[in-house]
Amino acid sequence: MAEKIRIIGGKQLKGEVSISGAKNAVLKLMAAALLAKGATKIYNVPELTDVGIMLNVLEQLGAKTQYDRLEKSIVVDATEITNIRAGYELVSRMRASFVVLGALVGRCKEAIVALPGGCAIGERKVDFHIKGLEALGTTVKIENGYVHAKAKKLVGTDIYLDIPSVGATENIMLASVLAEGSTRIQNAAQEPEIIDLANFLNAMGADVVGAGTSEIVINGVKQEDLKPIEYTTIPDRIEAGTYMAAFIATHGKGIIRNIFPNHLTFYTSKLTKMGADIKLIDPTSIEVSCRRRLEAINIITQPYPGFPTDLQSLAMALATVADGVSIITESLYENRFMQVPELRKMGADIHQERNHALVKGVKNLTSANLQASDLRAGASLVIAALMAEGESTIDNIYHIDRGYELLENKFRMIGADIQRYNEEEPAVINQNKGNLSESQL
Ligand code: EPU
Repeated sequence: MAEKIRIIGGKQLKGEVSISGAKNAVLKLMAAALLAKGATKIYNVPELTDVGIMLNVLEQLGAKTQYDRLEKSIVVDATEITNIRAGYELVSRMRASFVVLGALVGRCKEAIVALPGGCAIGERKVDFHIKGLEALGTTVKIENGYVHAKAKKLVGTDIYLDIPSVGATENIMLASVLAEGSTRIQNAAQEPEIIDLANFLNAMGADVVGAGTSEIVINGVKQEDLKPIEYTTIPDRIEAGTYMAAFIATHGKGIIRNIFPNHLTFYTSKLTKMGADIKLIDPTSIEVSCRRRLEAINIITQPYPGFPTDLQSLAMALATVADGVSIITESLYENRFMQVPELRKMGADIHQERNHALVKGVKNLTSANLQASDLRAGASLVIAALMAEGESTIDNIYHIDRGYELLENKFRMIGADIQRYNEEEPAVINQNKGNLSESQL
């Protein structure tokens, strides 16, 4: 049944919010758990639909999984991998599951994984992933929509990525942990999620050096060197950036806990330039407030440590009411401005040409009935609706559920008037619902 979110905007948000574990880190750690025989336990796991899909993928491969909602942990017991095929029905629901390719090739020397295809935000090719695996000695065939990768043995080598792709860096890291000799990834992605994956692999017994820089070296180890571990994932920098935007958008004041502020340096500096006050109050908490009208800003999205594409739509929501004209350039994805027509419904003045958007700030947004088209576009509509006077509704919120744990609960705790409801039954439902379906627990 179609769930929607209803937001009555215009309220100043105040209070404290605690950030969940990072979706884009934990999904890769779950795949990495396939490399070690035995039961690996991961803590700080957010309750999200994407995590549920990854649990299903791992089960399909023969791993035994368990999710503990109270402890926010999962166990992946990869003592045995009984199947090397990850099916289309799951992989097409979540692109991140393509990362099991590298782990399976590493552990089993063979994998058959569905090609994820494009998605709403862009074509999202996987050619660098495949070239990387081939360079390690894998024969790769594309058959009937599946990647079939097979290797007699994997041998480390130098791999240069044309662009610092997060997913390609991760797949190559996972495949090369058990290769003979050393693999050097040049122009590697430098995201905090890559560092988290390297730390996880090293805790397991792998030998990964340089994660967080543009050159990562993976010195191959033997299967018996890898042991199951217990590991806590990093906080979600994009969720944190979303709550920062929310406090600023509503001219509120709040504390954001359980974050690593240095993962958000570029974003923070742009928000500060716009007129927000952001203070470090302890190593994992910041205070965010905004007392005046925001000023326009220019933004170009870039791979980390540049301005994150995942926060571009949030910055655009803020720019819609800033004083002056902001220029926002999306340089990673072809189609990541899908919030634009929805923000226009609310009175935003945005002129878009290809990957550039000119946002002329208006005084106020007005409420509207809105559609989330993808995860981050959906999040930007939440921010816009919180700013707008009156009642807005957001449809297709399953997109938002992919990446925001307990969204309504967290927003209500800081004073937002936000409810999830079912179109057919207007009564409010799911107030305390997490985003994993029961079958996935
Ligand atoms: N690309 C290629 N060929 C490849 C791989 C990538 O052309 O083989 C292109 C893509 O089409 C895209 C660009 O390179 O235009 C960047 O893609 P990248 O591989 O870096 O991204 P990803 O691994 O698919 C992850 C996050 C995204 C985030 C990007 C960039 C996960 C599960 N997803 O995607 O997060 O936007 O890195 O930081 O980690 C989200 O959370 O909403 C989200 C989309």
